[in-house]
Amino acid sequence: MTKNLFIKTYGCQMNVYDSDRMADILKPLGYRTVDAPADADMVILNTCHIREKAAEKVFSELGRLRQMREHRREAGADMVIGVAGCVAQAEGEEIVRRAPYVDIVFGPQSYHRLPEMVARASRAAGKTVLETDFDVVEKFDVLPAPSADAGPAAFLTVQEGCDKFCTFCVVPYTRGAEYSRPAGDILAEARGMAANGVVEITLLGQNVNAYHGEGPDGRDWTLGRLIRELAEVPGLARLRYTTSHPLEMTGDLIAAHGEVPQLMPYLHLPVQAGADRVLTAMNRRHDRDTYFRIIDRLRDTRPDLALSGDFIVGFPGETDEDFEQTMDLVRRVGYAQAYSFKYSPRPGTPAAAAAAQVPEAAKAERLQRLQELLNAQQLAFNQATAGRTLDVLLERTGRRDGQLVGRSPYMQAVHVDAPGHRLGRIAPVIIEAGKANSLSGRLAADPARDAA
Ligand code: SAH
Ligand code: SF4
Ligand code: F3S
Repeated sequence: MTKNLFIKTYGCQMNVYDSDRMADILKPLGYRTVDAPADADMVILNTCHIREKAAEKVFSELGRLRQMREHRREAGADMVIGVAGCVAQAEGEEIVRRAPYVDIVFGPQSYHRLPEMVARASRAAGKTVLETDFDVVEKFDVLPAPSADAGPAAFLTVQEGCDKFCTFCVVPYTRGAEYSRPAGDILAEARGMAANGVVEITLLGQNVNAYHGEGPDGRDWTLGRLIRELAEVPGLARLRYTTSHPLEMTGDLIAAHGEVPQLMPYLHLPVQAGADRVLTAMNRRHDRDTYFRIIDRLRDTRPDLALSGDFIVGFPGETDEDFEQTMDLVRRVGYAQAYSFKYSPRPGTPAAAAAAQVPEAAKAERLQRLQELLNAQQLAFNQATAGRTLDVLLERTGRRDGQLVGRSPYMQAVHVDAPGHRLGRIAPVIIEAGKANSLSGRLAADPARDAA
């Protein structure tokens, strides 16, 4: 008998990858995924704990699910409610206390035990099953390979957890210590994806460039080595990786940007703040000059590299002058795209206990100024691609009939009129207009492909 599964994913790409793996491991139990919770026999919230707002969303969503389950019960059906991800890991007990009607609460390193947890929940007579052990090695051994319907661009987690302990961040607590998957497993998974029509793989890790997994030759492989080997996999035309820490930007990895044509000219390299004293207080373990030097070396290697970043404004103790240093850094680097956030105190992290918290009004004002600058840079970057011909991986159908949407090498969304059979392929597109959040263009004549 088939049952309906709805998974709602919050947070980072690693959660997106994990949600797909959860769906894969539940398939043999008869679960197929659906697009809405109302007719789901099981709902899993895959949660994020990175900022306060993200965590609070979970509890309001749980309230709605509880009501939905009541309606289903009145109609003779039922609903298993599960909370996965980083809120489950960090606040498992709190969820059980505030929302005792939840059936399963389970952390990111326990997904391979999901079928067993579902069975336990059905025997538990309404008592919540709580699983927050760290068991990352076994997880990747047990989880099934990604299923065939992933689309042309896929995520592949190669590294989990973080040992960096930035003073604002919960990730070391929710995902545990840094762990790198064996390179052979990753290559096998990538080959399987390519055989299923995947053209682009984004390698994922909370600190992906700290990757140091065991290679098939018994040696430690770096991310640079892994990328070079993945470039040999037939069918894989594009590789990306995220998220990187500046400290782990080794010479070998920088060189790969110049030598591996499959490695796309786009890099997410968060710096968080522009003032040295803030970087020190954040425990980022590098200064602004080191960041500039890394960017220079990357651009020497790959002149068209587009950069993306993350910024936090209003970190405890950040002064107006410190914030101006962030603005100055952004002007000097020039970003194609970036995320910026107000500092959010997270329970249990060192910065949350700092005395010098920045008032909300100052945070809001700084964020607005920073975002204006970042938006202007993004628009300028997008506009500058007008007139160029870019290779676009056509990933999905657009809102308009006959329209497809894809990604440029620089991660820009591109809208183009193209026949449906071009989906899943890379096509040269003449960019006609660059807007704030996307580009539009027309297919370039491609004699080689048109003849085929
Ligand atoms: N591993 C990545 C970041 C993962 S978290 C890195 O080291 O860069 C994603 C982003 O969320 C961070 O880069 C940071 O900008 C933001 N973030 C993390 N903790 C935060 C907090 N307490 N308040 C506001 N933003 C935060
Ligand atoms: Fe968090 Fe990234 Fe710092 Fe690790 S390196 S603690 S994931 S911000
Ligand atoms: Fe959020 Fe956890 Fe990712 S806290 S950003 S889902 S690692």
